[in-house]
Amino acid sequence: MDTLPKQFIENHIGTVMDIVLLEQQGCTSTVYKISALHGTYILKSAEPEIFRELLENEAEVLKKLNEQTDIPVPRFHGFTRTDSKSHLLMSYEEGVTLTEALAEADSQGVKNDLIESFSTLLHRLHTADTSILKISSRGKWLDIQLKKAAEYLQAGNTDGNQDLLDDLRNKKPHDIKSTVIHGDCTTDNVLVKNNQVYLFIDAGGMTYGDPRYDIALAVSEFLNHQDELSSFYRGYQRYKIDASEFKYFDSLYEFF
Ligand SMILES: Nc1ncnc2c1ncn2[C@@H]1O[C@H](COP(=O)(O)OP(=O)(O)O)[C@@H](O)[C@H]1O
Ligand SMILES: [Mg+2]
Repeated sequence: MDTLPKQFIENHIGTVMDIVLLEQQGCTSTVYKISALHGTYILKSAEPEIFRELLENEAEVLKKLNEQTDIPVPRFHGFTRTDSKSHLLMSYEEGVTLTEALAEADSQGVKNDLIESFSTLLHRLHTADTSILKISSRGKWLDIQLKKAAEYLQAGNTDGNQDLLDDLRNKKPHDIKSTVIHGDCTTDNVLVKNNQVYLFIDAGGMTYGDPRYDIALAVSEFLNHQDELSSFYRGYQRYKIDASEFKYFDSLYEFF
């Protein structure tokens, strides 16, 4: 922990009392919980360049979204890039991930309700005003993803392979209207409080893109559970992905 940027942290949130490594860690970063004199915060640190870029994007997204209330995310408190790492400082938000909440749920009814609240929040995201992210168009989201996938493949940073990438390039799904998307919409990246999914975390991939990617990632945990899938679409009513769309976007995720 002695590599943590103490000065940066205290400049932004004042006197720090305690820093602990969170029990639950993600895949792209190291996450610390900071107890300070005036509140509780999260420090998310990333080392490899691709994850540093993602973290910087997360910082930009949080800054913009903190100006509105439609899409609930943690509050941004600071971002810094040192020689070896990048660090994002944000508010600590209460609750557990949906993955944990589902594992702890004591009945199928509770699980179904959690899933419905997840998809209701996702519906809210996909119908949010797209000007919220203030993105100037940099080309089509899917083309950008395929380009990134190729870069990840070249760098040896992915589970995907060349055949799969060629397939994804040759079999693009028909176009649908872009929306604000989360970009890594798994049950690990939303928080639950009072039995409600109420907040998005890990928003580094949030952009203007293809909502089917979010749906595919969101339903991947309960694709073979009809009850849970129905609960999902009860909360998410704007589009139902078919099997080939699921396969396409699920395969795309293998690269990231
Ligand atoms: N703002 C936050 N408040 C509370 N817990 C958080 C917050 N951000 C992240 N976490 C916790 O840290 C874990 C990893 O964070 P995440 O942003 O998903 O990192 P990664 O990009 O590495 O997946 C999450 O699953 C969650 O348990
Ligand atoms: Mg995560």
